[in-house]
Amino acid sequence: MDKTEVQNYKKAGEITKEMQELSAKKLKEGANLYEFAEHIESEIKKKGGAPAFPINLSMNNVAAHYTPSFESEDVLLGDTVIKVDIGVHVNGFIADSAFTIDFSGKHKEMVETTEQALEEAVKMFKEGVSVGALGKKIESTLRGKGFNPIQNLSGHGVSEYDAHVGPSIPNIANNDSRKIEEGMAIAIEPFATDGEGFVREGSQAEIFQVAEKVPVRGMEARKILAFVEENYSKLPFAERWLQKELKMSDFARKIGMRELMQKKCIMAFPLLKEKEGKTVCQAETTLLAHEGKVIRLL
Ligand code: CO
Repeated sequence: MDKTEVQNYKKAGEITKEMQELSAKKLKEGANLYEFAEHIESEIKKKGGAPAFPINLSMNNVAAHYTPSFESEDVLLGDTVIKVDIGVHVNGFIADSAFTIDFSGKHKEMVETTEQALEEAVKMFKEGVSVGALGKKIESTLRGKGFNPIQNLSGHGVSEYDAHVGPSIPNIANNDSRKIEEGMAIAIEPFATDGEGFVREGSQAEIFQVAEKVPVRGMEARKILAFVEENYSKLPFAERWLQKELKMSDFARKIGMRELMQKKCIMAFPLLKEKEGKTVCQAETTLLAHEGKVIRLL
């Protein structure tokens, strides 16, 4: 990892930190989530970064992948546990982060334990440590307080214009002996729940990403694809971004998106949900293993 790369990562981390602080200040009961999301994403750009993916504002039993749509009138309700998952990139180098706010006042211990699990894993993080050992620590910290780790969600590496690369960092002890190596940038993200510790895909999706380069025929599909590749590269994007930035009618965009999905040229990230009535908390930060040291981006 060269100096410029490290500088870019660090700047992405600084912007992410600022956005977390701004989010904690701005997110209040009654807040319109669409306006909030757009505000944070535009602040990221003002600071010289870009969103590495649409801000995720998953609530209660939804663990990940909720971002408001253009039509959304969703407001933050008082009885909500919300995960604020923010990714920022600077010239393609990504800081990925998340924290949880409990507006219900009922899940303080779950929020704190999730943060504690992250901190315990961060303390262990260094070159040579196995990803399974990190998962084991996360699992024991969460279970120690009576919560379940979500088994089928994990942390991950990040790389230039790629928000999810190997190795994945499990939230359970899975005996994966792959090791943290020099030059890796890694997002660790424990998820705790009072549910069963397993998420399933919902039907709704608002976040997408270019998947495979396959030929598409329709004019609409070609236009969307060119726009997405030019503006977001291979990073996840929200359909609401297209609605705003791409000069195209809603009808034409829907036709284009349908073709791109059918040809598997883009993939969707559906909501990931725990059981109804259960709660999920998340904490996340990004670390670099660089020249024998650990650089925490935020
Ligand atoms: Co992440």
